[in-house]
Amino acid sequence: MKVTIVGPGKMALALAKGLEKEHELTIVGKDGERLLKFTKQLEKHAKTALIDKYEIDSQVLILCVKPAALKESSSVLKGKAETVYSILAGTPLSELKKAIKAENHVRAMPNLAAQYYSSMTALTGDDSKREEAETLFKSIGKTLWVDSEKELDIATAIAGSGPAYLALVAEALADGGVKEGLKRADAMKLVEGLFEGFAPLIANSHPALLKDAVMSPGGTTAAGCFTLEESAVRASFMKAVERAYGLTKR
Ligand SMILES: NC(=O)c1ccc[n+]([C@@H]2O[C@H](COP(=O)([O-])OP(=O)(O)OC[C@H]3O[C@@H](n4cnc5c(N)ncnc54)[C@H](OP(=O)(O)O)[C@@H]3O)[C@@H](O)[C@H]2O)c1
Repeated sequence: MKVTIVGPGKMALALAKGLEKEHELTIVGKDGERLLKFTKQLEKHAKTALIDKYEIDSQVLILCVKPAALKESSSVLKGKAETVYSILAGTPLSELKKAIKAENHVRAMPNLAAQYYSSMTALTGDDSKREEAETLFKSIGKTLWVDSEKELDIATAIAGSGPAYLALVAEALADGGVKEGLKRADAMKLVEGLFEGFAPLIANSHPALLKDAVMSPGGTTAAGCFTLEESAVRASFMKAVERAYGLTKR
């Protein structure tokens, strides 16, 4: 399939690296040098084009500019696309439809793990494009089609922001180890291994069962879990999702 990526930034690069094996890519931006630097990081040749000279008629676009650049970038695009996939956080389909003419509009919310082909990407939009959307975004990890934009915005607060939340957890655990006397490098290795091993555990078990399996009567984990509960760890995470989702409603 021919796919045009608009906005040669970080997330666009992760997507392009995932898509280039199976699709013919064109990268569109506002600066020629920036486009060259971008395509040099790809394995296969990708076409480039300046945005003010680009015709989107019947094209499949993945829009990767920042939400604040939507108006500026879309105002110079000429024609009517087949499908616009937008990864812009908190930008509703109604706004996209006003900004870019297309037969179909789909929102996608990937995360930073896209650069390792391990994104968890939430999708929603025109149902007729569901299969195509899932195929495209599976090139950078896993996908979940949700039924509404509200759900996509909630998903953003979990999987889009999630790497930042888990980074806090990782750093805090390492800091805890260092506080008790562990070398920083060793603490980081332990945390890295912990996260790697946790992925298959959570994919195969309910979190409550995992916790029960580690927490023995009167044991060390029970003492740790009690301390986390005293600090309202669950309520804190739930509030984090509430606030992040709240911002998408403004
Ligand atoms: N980063 C994340 O973890 C993440 C996760 C999920 C979704 N997103 C979404 O992904 C989008 C991009 O984020 P990012 O982190 O990849 O940002 P980024 O690295 O800053 O990339 C944005 C790109 O847009 C380009 N751009 C700006 N104005 C333009 C215009 N008028 N015409 C064409 N291109 C233009 C910029 O070009 P120059 O380089 O030439 O300035 C830049 O390459 C955002 O909407 C964000 O909400 C990001």
